[in-house]
Amino acid sequence: MTEAHPSARSVAVGGDRPYAITIGPGLLDDGALLAAPVRGNAAMIVSDRNVAPLYAQRVADALRAARPGLHVHTHVLPAGEAAKTLAHFTEVVNALADARLRRDATLFALGGGVIGDLAGFAAACWMRGIDCVQLPTTLLAMVDSSVGGKTAVDLPQGKNLVGAFHPPRAVIADTGALRTLPARELRAGLAEVVKYGALGDAAFLDWLDDNADALLAMDDAALAEAIARSCAHKAAIVERDPFEHGERALLNLGHTFGHAIETEQGYDGLNHGEAVAVGMVLAARLSEALGFAKTEDGDRLRALLQRFGLPVALPPGLDPGRLVAHMRLDKKAQAGGLRFVVWDGIGRARVLADVPESAVIEVLRAG
Ligand code: NAD
Ligand code: GLY
Repeated sequence: MTEAHPSARSVAVGGDRPYAITIGPGLLDDGALLAAPVRGNAAMIVSDRNVAPLYAQRVADALRAARPGLHVHTHVLPAGEAAKTLAHFTEVVNALADARLRRDATLFALGGGVIGDLAGFAAACWMRGIDCVQLPTTLLAMVDSSVGGKTAVDLPQGKNLVGAFHPPRAVIADTGALRTLPARELRAGLAEVVKYGALGDAAFLDWLDDNADALLAMDDAALAEAIARSCAHKAAIVERDPFEHGERALLNLGHTFGHAIETEQGYDGLNHGEAVAVGMVLAARLSEALGFAKTEDGDRLRALLQRFGLPVALPPGLDPGRLVAHMRLDKKAQAGGLRFVVWDGIGRARVLADVPESAVIEVLRAG
């Protein structure tokens, strides 16, 4: 909770560089909360062309009201995954240079996961690292990408291939911003919410089943609960394994398939959450094909994702051989061969190395 927003929730992320995730309506107007992590006298808001007209001025006004004399710059990028490029990263770094921002400046990443990842990467690199505050405005960014410090841009060869770990100084999730989010993007965020249930929390999956209608209707209390529970799951994992040497890899459930789909579609087909939804179903089917998972578990996961209006099968026309070629460059692949997070049922995801390509091709053909 904050002084101005007593109903806000807070989730703590511990570790070497601890920070708080604050969740609640109206937080983008809470100047004291926004300005609390700011050390110097300059800040830059990086946002995209959909989000900036809705929220950037509000954030700038709130910051200036709380910290008179703070120089607040704004830089706006095109929206969408296709903009998560080295070229746009360079554009942001040039904007930081033009604004003469120094090491004590703060970058505010205002937008979905694309802005969070790209602007976070610029913050990680500018002068070898300046403070970044994540202001997620999509459900996906609130439950996943704004937390944990992974930042990156895509290459045509693959997703998130150039990046850095750079934990934010704070995450401030204004749930009121979800009011303007297109329905398709809300559903995409629900895919990552389902992921946390699938990874280890049967009670959370039951809760999602019971509250699916409320979530799809954007019920404030249901959304706040889903965000807080998801953030608590992610915080616990990244606290124990910030650099993905072990269990953090489980958060990539569905992502080897999903990233291959996104790359093959030139970042202009399924969005990230949709691709992860298909990927989680395929990860369950792969486990089943290898003799580990029960069909009914995969069916339940599939049914819940479908209830949230998410795709659960490979889009037509994608060539399994080309998808496998993308998987070979996935960050989870190692010299020995393909590695997958397979899903053997609720709470039973694990990393499986040296998965035979023939089994993956079979699952892709069937899926
Ligand atoms: P996104 O950032 O492209 O946002 C989706 C769309 O919604 C965009 O068009 C955006 O302009 C618009 N939008 C955002 N907020 C809005 C609002 N409040 N009102 C109206 N429109 C709004 O996509 P995303 O789904 O948020 O993020 C996906 C990205 O996140 C992918 O690049 C993925 O790789 C990355 N990701 C990173 C991590 C991580 O740990 N760093 C985790 C998961 C996903
Ligand atoms: N979204 C995967 C991770 O943060 O590790």
